[in-house]
Amino acid sequence: MPHLDAERFGAFIAKPEARTLKQDALVAYSDGLINELKQADVIVLGLPMYNFGVPSALKAYFDHIARAGVTFKYTEKGPVGLLTGKKAYVFATRGGLYEGTPRDTQTTYVRDFLAFLGIADVQFVYAEGLAMGDANKAASLAKARESLHNLVPAIA
Ligand SMILES: Cc1cc2nc3c(=O)[nH]c(=O)nc-3n(C[C@H](O)[C@H](O)[C@H](O)COP(=O)(O)O)c2cc1C
Repeated sequence: MPHLDAERFGAFIAKPEARTLKQDALVAYSDGLINELKQADVIVLGLPMYNFGVPSALKAYFDHIARAGVTFKYTEKGPVGLLTGKKAYVFATRGGLYEGTPRDTQTTYVRDFLAFLGIADVQFVYAEGLAMGDANKAASLAKARESLHNLVPAIA
């Protein structure tokens, strides 16, 4: 996933009739990702923690799908998300333990970002302590598997 830079963002905000061929291609790439999302009723994100945050590839993806006038719009009452009627599941994995603590900035960030696009129905499943010894890892994965198992009827 390419990172957002001035060239890409410039393409996103250029008037369609004034875009260069290069800008058309950059917008088409973003449009493809957005169309994939629009067609989905259910969205699943894998979310490992990398250095206390989300992987930069996920951030780059988010930067491609946040498009004013396409996936959200500005109003006098603030921004309104346009990707409504969807359910998202986020499977978060960490080497350490963060769930429910102020250091879990990933959960707040991902929840806020998805809500910004109109995806407010988001459920997180955590597998934590994966780098805290084999016993902790096994127990955490078993707990996560059970949570996933319980989600299956909801997904189906
Ligand atoms: C580059 C890198 C940075 C990581 N940083 C953290 C971190 O800040 N906190 C944490 O709990 N785990 C951290 N981990 C552990 C990952 O969260 C853990 O390996 C991952 O969630 C499990 O997915 P995997 O099977 O793809 O490794 C890091 C792992 C890598 C590779």
